[in-house]
Order: sequence, then structure tokens, then C-alpha cells
Amino acid sequence: MNRPNPLRDPTDRRLPQIAGPCGLVLFGATGDLARKKLLPALYDQAHRGLLPPGFSLIGFARHDGDGESFIELARQAVKEHARTPFRDDIWDQLAEGIIFVAGDFNDDTAFKKLRNAVDQSIARHGTGGNFAFYLSVPPKWFPKVVQQLKKHGLAEQKEGSWRRAVIEKPFGHDLKSAQELNRIVHEVFPAEAVFRIDHYLGKETVQNILALRFANTLFEPIWNRSYVDHVQITMAEDIGIGGRAGYYDGIGAARDVIQNHLLQLLALTAMEEPASFDADAVAAEKTKVLGAVSLPKDFAKETVRGQYAHGWQGGEEVVGYVEEEGIDPKSKTDTYAAIKLEIDNRRWAGVPFYLRTGKRLGRRVTEIAVVFQRAPHSPFDQTATEELGQNALVIRVQPDEGVTMRFGSKVPGTQMEVRDVSMDFAYGESFTESSPEAYERLILDVLLGESNLFPRLKEVELSWQILDPIERYWDKNGKPAQYPAGTWGPVEADEMLARDGRSWRRP
Ligand code: BG6
Repeated sequence: MNRPNPLRDPTDRRLPQIAGPCGLVLFGATGDLARKKLLPALYDQAHRGLLPPGFSLIGFARHDGDGESFIELARQAVKEHARTPFRDDIWDQLAEGIIFVAGDFNDDTAFKKLRNAVDQSIARHGTGGNFAFYLSVPPKWFPKVVQQLKKHGLAEQKEGSWRRAVIEKPFGHDLKSAQELNRIVHEVFPAEAVFRIDHYLGKETVQNILALRFANTLFEPIWNRSYVDHVQITMAEDIGIGGRAGYYDGIGAARDVIQNHLLQLLALTAMEEPASFDADAVAAEKTKVLGAVSLPKDFAKETVRGQYAHGWQGGEEVVGYVEEEGIDPKSKTDTYAAIKLEIDNRRWAGVPFYLRTGKRLGRRVTEIAVVFQRAPHSPFDQTATEELGQNALVIRVQPDEGVTMRFGSKVPGTQMEVRDVSMDFAYGESFTESSPEAYERLILDVLLGESNLFPRLKEVELSWQILDPIERYWDKNGKPAQYPAGTWGPVEADEMLARDGRSWRRP
């Protein structure tokens, strides 16, 4: 067989691609996300040689300091949070292209300064007029920032150059506001220039779902209602809301991560094989399966929302959600949510997909567990299989990235006894290279104009259509159930599965 020569073939996907000359304007450049993820991701890209020469970063934020103090803040953020080791020479090169503009989003003078900064960087760094505008700002500011970009001529694409908008999640607060936001964004940027971020899609293990399913023959034949009993998708966090009260209160767990991350995981787990790995083909399959999701029949029994109360986490006493700084003591915001969904198609009819997420849970873990039916017949005595659970394939998204297969095995000895064992694939053991952070991959794709890993508007709309009725029901009906910090969520969530004769995994 003729293998392509990776050194000659520009379409070889194994080769890292580097974007042409360009720059990035980062709104919210001193915020939590920028400091913990975005600035470190840019440094990591520079370290891996993936940024174009002369790359220019323009930070925009409300910040008392000047350019120097922003560069120092960014340097500290990189030192603390970058994945790759800190090197002065790499940092100095990146810092050379940094410009800082202080101001708020209503401030026309600040946007004029931004315009000058962009022009300056085109002239000095040869960015060729190619700029991505990354909106790492509270969602309520998305429309304003986009309108300011238009007003100050920053969104205009000149012949042969590009301007792109990168919008953090959640895209809207419900279906209606998502559509309205989309309308505003599209008055300024054409559809192909809009990149909606769902950083879970940039995670290696999430991309591996498609490889696992469609590059192998082992799993796909049993990936359906004939063999699968149910699927559990868990995103558990041990942290509270930290300094994000302003963002989180009123949004809550379901809007924060079910509408996007968890429904994207569901889509990748349940979708049909796309005709190719092309962005349109993958989006078409995700859209189809999200469109086939059916809502719980009884919201009272098949959805649960919770809020963490005072408790203990990792040996430390922690306050409850309503005692956190900046939170309304009467807040009804959910910090935990669990939902049972089904998918109305031939492959999945009757198979429940249980989704759960929460803050201040037992530990940080994200996983997709495909739990299989029990063998239709057992030739063993009941006593021999008392400790045998259901077979499961667990895609460990984080932190311990890999895949686990759980199945029964004979316990050594003269007796016949079958017990659950696990077979593990761990990224860290099979590959020498550590996984890039999701944001490294996603920022690179924005600069390259690759839209594969960004949800399309239709996917966002369908996800709101799933969540909106549940949120409306929660709004009208009582308060979230309390759970002590450091536990696995409200008992109501356990009862929800117990009613179906099932239980949550304790990862
Ligand atoms: C973000 C949510 O999208 O994902 C946060 O807004 C959450 O609330 C975070 O903490 C978790 O990301 P990760 O990559 O650490 O699982």
C-alpha cells in the first residue's frame, strides 16, 4: 500500500498545522478564564512552535494598570498554569507581540484605542489584517462587544484577510435568547466566521470517543439497545464556585454545563457514524441525534436539581452555596443537576441516558459509562455470581484519562466464583506525549479556520430545546434539594435511579 509521505503531503492530519500571520484580541484578558486557561494555552502553543511568527495578542479588559502590568499579570498566569515548562526566551518572544487596551465595553474611546492597536500590530507585526476576537466575558456582554466591533470597523474583513469571533459558552440563556444573540452576531460576522466555544470538544478524550467507536470493530456491534442497558454521563467537580459568583448565580449547573458539555458528550456517544470526519458531516450526525432526544415524561421523578450545603471537602470545612461571597442568601440556583433522557431512534429506543453534574461533589471526575445488559442466561449458581455487576465500558474523560472495561472473571481457587474486574487503557501509559489542553487545540483551530470542534447553531438550539422545559419546570416548582458539600449529591438523585432499579456509579 502506498502511504502518503507526511513531509510532502500538506493534507496529512498527523502533521501539526500552523496558522498564517494573525493576531488575537482577547476581551476579558485579566479574567479567571483568561488567566487560568487562555493565556497559558497561548504560551503552550508558542512553546510547541504552533504560533505564527509575529503573532500578536491584544488584551482588552477593565484593569487599573498599564501595558507593563498586564504583561506581568499574563507572565504570572502562564508560570502558574501553563502545561509546558516556562522558558524566558519563549515568553519574551510572545510578550513582544502583546499590546494592552484598558477600558470597558461601553467605552467608545477604548474601542478607538483598540482599533489603533490592531492597526499598529498589522503594521509592526505583519499580522496581515487577520484577527480573531475572543469574547471571554460574561454572557450579558456578548451583544455589546460584537456591536462595538462593528461600530469601530473592527469586524470588517478586507479582501484576502479574515476576522473571526470566538464566543464563550453559554450561548444564550435559553432558546429565545440564543437565537437573538445569533441574530446580533450574524449582523456583524458571517456564519463561517463565528466560533462557539464548548471546550469539552477540544479535550483529547472527547475526540477519542469517535476514534473508539468508528475506528474499531469491537464496540460498534454492541453499541445499541440490544446490548446497552443504560448510559451514565457524569461531570463531577469537587470545587465550589470560587470567585465566579457573578457569572454562576442565576445560571446554575444545568445551563452552565448540561446544555453544552454534557449534551455534546451525549451526542458523540449516541450519534451515527458520519460519512466522513468533515465538519459538516459530523455536525449533521450530532444534530440528528440531538433532534431525536426525548424529554423526561415526568419531570418530578426524572429530573433533580440540588444545591450544596455546608460540609467537608478534602478534610476542609467548606461553606454552603448561599454562604459563598456574592451569592444571594435566598438563591435557588442549582449547583447539581441530574436528568434522564431517552433517544427516539432505532438504535437507542428505550435506553435511558442519565446525565448528572455538580459542584462540591466527592471528587473531580468526568466519564461516560456505557452499561451493558446482564447475560440473558447464566449457567452459574446464583451464589457464584453474587458479586458480578453489569459489564461496562467507561470512557474516562478526566482526570485519569483513558478507557476502562469492566467484566466478570473467575476468582482463582477451587470454587466457581465470578467477580467484576477492570481492564484499563491509560493515556499516560500508552503514549509518551501528554495531551494538549482543550484550549490549545481550540484556539489553534480558530486561527486555522477549522470549525470541526465547534458546535453549530442548530446544535446549540436543540440543546436549549431540551433544557428549556426542564428549567421552566424547576422555576415553578420549589427549591433545589440540599446536599452536604463533599458528598455525591442529593438523595433525590439516588432515588431517581433506584426507581428504575439502577444506581449511579461511584467513580
Ligand atoms: C466550564 C464551566 O465550562 O467548565 C465551569 O463553566 C466548570 O463551571 C468548567 O468548572 C470545568 O471544566 P473542566 O475542563 O475542568 O472540566
